[in-house]
Amino acid sequence: MTSLRRAWHTFRYGELMRRLEEWRYGWRWRYALEKLHERRAGAETMHDVSLAELGIEAKERIWYVPSEWMGLRRAIRSLHVTREDVFVDFGSGKGRALLIAAQFPFRRVIGVELAEQLTDLARRNLESARRRRCGEVELVTGDALAYEIPDDVTVAYLFCPFIGDVFHGVFERLLESFDRLPRPLRVVYNYPYEHRYLLSTGRVQVVDVHPDRWPPRSLTGPDVIVTYRVVPPGAAPEPVRSLGLRRAPVWLGPHEPGFRLGPR
Ligand SMILES: C[S@@+](CC[C@H](N)C(=O)[O-])C[C@H]1O[C@@H](n2cnc3c(N)ncnc32)[C@H](O)[C@@H]1O
Repeated sequence: MTSLRRAWHTFRYGELMRRLEEWRYGWRWRYALEKLHERRAGAETMHDVSLAELGIEAKERIWYVPSEWMGLRRAIRSLHVTREDVFVDFGSGKGRALLIAAQFPFRRVIGVELAEQLTDLARRNLESARRRRCGEVELVTGDALAYEIPDDVTVAYLFCPFIGDVFHGVFERLLESFDRLPRPLRVVYNYPYEHRYLLSTGRVQVVDVHPDRWPPRSLTGPDVIVTYRVVPPGAAPEPVRSLGLRRAPVWLGPHEPGFRLGPR
Protein backbone atom coordinates (compact mmCIF):
# COMPACT_ATOMS: atom_id res chain seq x y z
CA MET A 1 0.00 0.00 0.00
CA THR A 2 2.81 2.38 0.98
CA SER A 3 4.68 1.70 -2.22
CA LEU A 4 1.50 2.24 -4.22
CA ARG A 5 0.98 5.59 -2.49
CA ARG A 6 4.60 6.52 -3.12
CA ALA A 7 4.25 5.63 -6.82
CA TRP A 8 1.11 7.76 -7.04
CA HIS A 9 2.90 10.71 -5.37
CA THR A 10 5.88 10.31 -7.70
CA PHE A 11 3.55 10.27 -10.69
CA ARG A 12 1.69 13.40 -9.53
CA TYR A 13 4.91 15.20 -8.68
CA GLY A 14 6.34 14.28 -12.11
CA GLU A 15 3.21 15.54 -13.81
CA LEU A 16 3.33 18.81 -11.87
CA MET A 17 7.00 19.35 -12.75
CA ARG A 18 6.29 18.59 -16.41
CA ARG A 19 3.55 21.21 -16.46
CA LEU A 20 5.75 23.76 -14.73
CA GLU A 21 8.54 23.16 -17.25
CA GLU A 22 6.08 23.51 -20.09
CA TRP A 23 4.88 26.82 -18.72
CA ARG A 24 8.35 28.12 -18.01
CA TYR A 25 9.90 27.24 -21.35
CA GLY A 26 6.89 27.12 -23.55
CA TRP A 27 4.01 29.37 -22.80
CA ARG A 28 5.88 32.27 -21.20
CA TRP A 29 8.41 32.51 -24.05
CA ARG A 30 5.77 32.14 -26.65
CA TYR A 31 3.68 34.86 -25.05
CA ALA A 32 6.63 37.26 -24.93
CA LEU A 33 7.53 36.53 -28.57
CA GLU A 34 3.93 36.97 -29.67
CA LYS A 35 3.75 40.33 -27.89
CA LEU A 36 6.92 41.46 -29.60
CA HIS A 37 5.60 40.53 -33.05
CA GLU A 38 2.29 42.22 -32.35
CA ARG A 39 4.03 45.43 -31.39
CA ARG A 40 6.28 45.36 -34.47
CA ALA A 41 3.28 44.80 -36.73
CA GLY A 42 1.19 47.42 -34.90
CA ALA A 43 -1.64 44.88 -34.57
CA GLU A 44 -3.91 43.22 -32.02
CA THR A 45 -4.52 39.65 -33.11
CA MET A 46 -3.82 37.69 -29.91
CA HIS A 47 -6.37 35.93 -27.71
CA ASP A 48 -8.62 33.12 -28.85
CA VAL A 49 -12.33 33.75 -29.47
CA SER A 50 -14.92 31.00 -29.21
CA LEU A 51 -17.55 30.82 -31.94
CA ALA A 52 -20.27 30.45 -29.26
CA GLU A 53 -19.26 33.91 -28.06
CA LEU A 54 -19.86 35.20 -31.59
CA GLY A 55 -23.11 33.29 -31.98
CA ILE A 56 -21.89 31.24 -34.97
CA GLU A 57 -20.91 27.96 -33.34
CA ALA A 58 -21.57 24.86 -35.46
CA LYS A 59 -20.23 21.35 -35.87
CA GLU A 60 -17.13 21.33 -38.13
CA ARG A 61 -16.32 25.05 -37.59
CA ILE A 62 -13.22 25.88 -35.57
CA TRP A 63 -12.92 28.87 -33.24
CA TYR A 64 -10.50 31.76 -33.61
CA VAL A 65 -6.89 31.12 -32.67
CA PRO A 66 -4.14 32.94 -34.56
CA SER A 67 -1.28 31.37 -36.55
CA GLU A 68 2.15 31.74 -35.01
CA TRP A 69 4.10 34.63 -36.55
CA MET A 70 7.44 32.93 -37.15
CA GLY A 71 6.17 29.53 -38.26
CA LEU A 72 3.89 30.94 -40.93
CA ARG A 73 6.41 33.52 -42.12
CA ARG A 74 8.96 30.77 -42.72
CA ALA A 75 6.43 28.61 -44.57
CA ILE A 76 5.46 31.53 -46.86
CA ARG A 77 9.09 32.51 -47.42
CA SER A 78 9.79 29.02 -48.81
CA LEU A 79 7.12 29.59 -51.51
CA HIS A 80 9.31 32.21 -53.27
CA VAL A 81 6.38 34.57 -53.77
CA THR A 82 6.30 36.83 -56.85
CA ARG A 83 3.93 39.55 -58.13
CA GLU A 84 2.05 36.80 -60.01
CA ASP A 85 0.89 35.26 -56.73
CA VAL A 86 -2.45 35.75 -55.02
CA PHE A 87 -2.97 34.60 -51.41
CA VAL A 88 -6.27 33.64 -49.82
CA ASP A 89 -6.76 32.79 -46.13
CA PHE A 90 -9.89 30.73 -45.52
CA GLY A 91 -11.11 31.68 -42.03
CA SER A 92 -8.96 34.79 -41.69
CA GLY A 93 -10.12 35.79 -38.18
CA LYS A 94 -8.43 38.93 -36.81
CA GLY A 95 -6.09 38.94 -39.80
CA ARG A 96 -2.82 37.61 -38.39
CA ALA A 97 -2.05 35.42 -41.44
CA LEU A 98 -3.05 38.29 -43.74
CA LEU A 99 -0.62 40.61 -41.94
CA ILE A 100 2.15 38.05 -42.44
CA ALA A 101 1.28 37.47 -46.11
CA ALA A 102 1.16 41.24 -46.65
CA GLN A 103 4.88 41.37 -45.89
CA PHE A 104 5.51 39.42 -49.13
CA PRO A 105 5.11 40.72 -52.70
CA PHE A 106 1.72 39.08 -53.36
CA ARG A 107 -0.31 40.90 -55.99
CA ARG A 108 -3.39 40.42 -53.84
CA VAL A 109 -4.06 39.13 -50.33
CA ILE A 110 -7.62 37.98 -49.56
CA GLY A 111 -9.23 37.05 -46.26
CA VAL A 112 -12.52 35.14 -46.05
CA GLU A 113 -14.06 35.08 -42.58
CA LEU A 114 -17.45 34.01 -41.28
CA ALA A 115 -17.61 36.36 -38.27
CA GLU A 116 -18.21 40.00 -39.09
CA GLN A 117 -16.77 41.13 -35.75
CA LEU A 118 -13.48 39.39 -36.58
CA THR A 119 -13.37 40.87 -40.09
CA ASP A 120 -13.81 44.35 -38.56
CA LEU A 121 -10.85 43.71 -36.28
CA ALA A 122 -8.81 42.40 -39.22
CA ARG A 123 -9.62 45.55 -41.19
CA ARG A 124 -8.40 47.75 -38.34
CA ASN A 125 -5.25 45.66 -38.00
CA LEU A 126 -4.48 45.87 -41.69
CA GLU A 127 -5.08 49.62 -41.78
CA SER A 128 -2.52 50.22 -39.07
CA ALA A 129 -0.09 47.56 -40.36
CA ARG A 130 3.54 48.43 -40.85
CA ARG A 131 5.96 46.78 -43.29
CA ARG A 132 3.40 46.04 -46.02
CA ARG A 133 4.82 44.88 -49.37
CA CYS A 134 1.82 43.30 -51.07
CA GLY A 135 -0.55 44.97 -53.52
CA GLU A 136 -4.27 45.00 -52.79
CA VAL A 137 -5.85 43.55 -49.63
CA GLU A 138 -9.44 42.32 -49.75
CA LEU A 139 -11.62 41.21 -46.83
CA VAL A 140 -14.74 39.16 -47.40
CA THR A 141 -17.29 38.33 -44.69
CA GLY A 142 -19.10 35.07 -45.34
CA ASP A 143 -18.97 31.31 -45.31
CA ALA A 144 -15.90 29.93 -47.10
CA LEU A 145 -18.20 27.30 -48.63
CA ALA A 146 -20.13 29.98 -50.50
CA TYR A 147 -17.05 31.92 -51.57
CA GLU A 148 -16.44 32.09 -55.33
CA ILE A 149 -12.73 31.32 -55.51
CA PRO A 150 -11.03 33.64 -58.03
CA ASP A 151 -9.13 31.81 -60.76
CA ASP A 152 -5.93 33.72 -60.09
CA VAL A 153 -5.46 32.39 -56.53
CA THR A 154 -2.10 30.61 -56.29
CA VAL A 155 -1.72 30.14 -52.53
CA ALA A 156 -4.63 28.87 -50.41
CA TYR A 157 -3.91 29.08 -46.69
CA LEU A 158 -5.90 27.25 -44.04
CA PHE A 159 -5.17 27.18 -40.34
CA CYS A 160 -7.61 24.38 -39.58
CA PRO A 161 -10.65 26.70 -39.88
CA PHE A 162 -13.12 23.87 -40.48
CA ILE A 163 -13.14 20.11 -40.86
CA GLY A 164 -15.29 17.37 -42.41
CA ASP A 165 -17.84 18.24 -45.11
CA VAL A 166 -17.09 21.97 -44.97
CA PHE A 167 -13.40 21.33 -45.62
CA HIS A 168 -14.19 18.86 -48.40
CA GLY A 169 -16.59 21.34 -50.02
CA VAL A 170 -14.08 24.20 -49.97
CA PHE A 171 -11.35 21.96 -51.36
CA GLU A 172 -13.66 20.86 -54.19
CA ARG A 173 -14.27 24.55 -55.06
CA LEU A 174 -10.53 25.02 -55.15
CA LEU A 175 -10.12 22.05 -57.51
CA GLU A 176 -12.89 23.42 -59.75
CA SER A 177 -11.01 26.69 -59.97
CA PHE A 178 -7.75 24.86 -60.76
CA ASP A 179 -9.42 22.72 -63.42
CA ARG A 180 -10.96 25.80 -65.06
CA LEU A 181 -7.56 27.45 -65.17
CA PRO A 182 -4.62 25.12 -64.47
CA ARG A 183 -1.80 27.08 -62.78
CA PRO A 184 0.78 26.64 -60.03
CA LEU A 185 -1.47 26.35 -56.97
CA ARG A 186 -0.28 25.54 -53.48
CA VAL A 187 -2.33 24.68 -50.40
CA VAL A 188 -0.56 25.75 -47.21
CA TYR A 189 -2.22 23.84 -44.38
CA ASN A 190 -1.48 24.63 -40.75
CA TYR A 191 -2.46 21.86 -38.29
CA PRO A 192 -3.39 19.58 -41.22
CA TYR A 193 -6.30 17.73 -39.68
CA GLU A 194 -7.59 16.70 -43.13
CA HIS A 195 -4.20 15.53 -44.43
CA ARG A 196 -5.40 11.99 -45.06
CA TYR A 197 -8.44 13.24 -46.94
CA LEU A 198 -6.31 15.53 -49.12
CA LEU A 199 -4.00 12.65 -50.10
CA SER A 200 -6.97 10.35 -50.71
CA THR A 201 -8.27 12.70 -53.45
CA GLY A 202 -5.10 12.05 -55.51
CA ARG A 203 -5.12 15.78 -56.37
CA VAL A 204 -2.23 16.97 -54.17
CA GLN A 205 1.41 16.20 -53.60
CA VAL A 206 3.26 17.17 -50.46
CA VAL A 207 6.12 19.51 -51.23
CA ASP A 208 7.23 20.82 -47.85
CA VAL A 209 6.77 20.68 -44.10
CA HIS A 210 7.56 23.42 -41.56
CA PRO A 211 7.12 23.65 -37.81
CA ASP A 212 4.17 25.91 -36.96
CA ARG A 213 6.06 27.78 -34.22
CA TRP A 214 9.36 28.87 -32.85
CA PRO A 215 10.90 27.24 -30.86
CA PRO A 216 9.64 24.34 -32.98
CA ARG A 217 7.98 21.18 -31.81
CA SER A 218 8.42 17.84 -33.59
CA LEU A 219 8.03 17.80 -37.37
CA THR A 220 6.25 14.47 -37.17
CA GLY A 221 3.61 15.69 -34.69
CA PRO A 222 0.44 17.64 -35.58
CA ASP A 223 1.93 21.13 -35.00
CA VAL A 224 3.21 21.60 -38.53
CA ILE A 225 2.44 23.53 -41.69
CA VAL A 226 2.32 21.24 -44.70
CA THR A 227 2.54 22.67 -48.22
CA TYR A 228 0.83 20.73 -51.00
CA ARG A 229 0.92 21.29 -54.73
CA VAL A 230 -2.40 20.82 -56.53
CA VAL A 231 -2.00 18.47 -59.50
CA PRO A 232 -4.22 17.57 -62.48
CA PRO A 233 -6.31 14.37 -62.17
CA GLY A 234 -4.23 11.22 -62.65
CA ALA A 235 -0.88 13.04 -62.39
CA ALA A 236 2.09 10.74 -61.73
CA PRO A 237 3.78 11.51 -58.39
CA GLU A 238 6.87 13.68 -58.85
CA PRO A 239 10.03 13.25 -56.80
CA VAL A 240 10.08 15.80 -53.99
CA ARG A 241 13.19 17.87 -53.46
CA SER A 242 12.67 19.76 -50.25
CA LEU A 243 14.86 20.52 -47.31
CA GLY A 244 11.95 20.37 -44.88
CA LEU A 245 10.96 16.90 -45.98
CA ARG A 246 14.36 15.43 -45.31
CA ARG A 247 13.28 15.78 -41.68
CA ALA A 248 9.63 14.73 -41.94
CA PRO A 249 9.08 12.19 -44.72
CA VAL A 250 6.10 10.74 -42.82
CA TRP A 251 3.93 13.49 -44.33
CA LEU A 252 4.42 12.05 -47.83
CA GLY A 253 1.95 9.32 -46.86
CA PRO A 254 -1.36 9.24 -44.94
CA HIS A 255 0.16 10.24 -41.59
CA GLU A 256 -2.05 10.44 -38.47
CA PRO A 257 -0.11 12.05 -35.61
CA GLY A 258 -3.00 12.22 -33.13
CA PHE A 259 -4.77 15.45 -33.99
CA ARG A 260 -6.81 16.93 -31.17
CA LEU A 261 -9.38 19.67 -31.46
CA GLY A 262 -9.24 21.67 -28.25
CA PRO A 263 -7.14 24.39 -26.65
CA ARG A 264 -3.55 23.98 -27.91
C1 LIG B 1 -8.02 28.75 -36.34
S1 LIG B 1 -8.74 30.33 -36.80
C2 LIG B 1 -7.57 30.86 -38.03
C3 LIG B 1 -7.30 32.36 -38.01
C4 LIG B 1 -6.39 32.90 -39.08
N1 LIG B 1 -6.51 32.21 -40.34
C5 LIG B 1 -4.94 32.86 -38.65
O1 LIG B 1 -4.24 32.00 -39.17
O2 LIG B 1 -4.53 33.65 -37.80
C6 LIG B 1 -10.17 29.74 -37.72
C7 LIG B 1 -11.07 30.84 -38.23
O3 LIG B 1 -11.95 30.27 -39.20
C8 LIG B 1 -13.21 30.90 -39.09
N2 LIG B 1 -14.22 30.01 -39.71
C9 LIG B 1 -14.74 28.87 -39.21
N3 LIG B 1 -15.63 28.32 -40.07
C10 LIG B 1 -15.65 29.15 -41.16
C11 LIG B 1 -16.36 29.12 -42.40
N4 LIG B 1 -17.22 28.12 -42.70
N5 LIG B 1 -16.13 30.12 -43.29
C12 LIG B 1 -15.28 31.14 -43.00
N6 LIG B 1 -14.60 31.21 -41.84
C13 LIG B 1 -14.76 30.23 -40.93
C14 LIG B 1 -13.38 31.13 -37.60
O4 LIG B 1 -14.33 32.16 -37.33
C15 LIG B 1 -11.93 31.50 -37.18
O5 LIG B 1 -11.75 32.89 -37.22
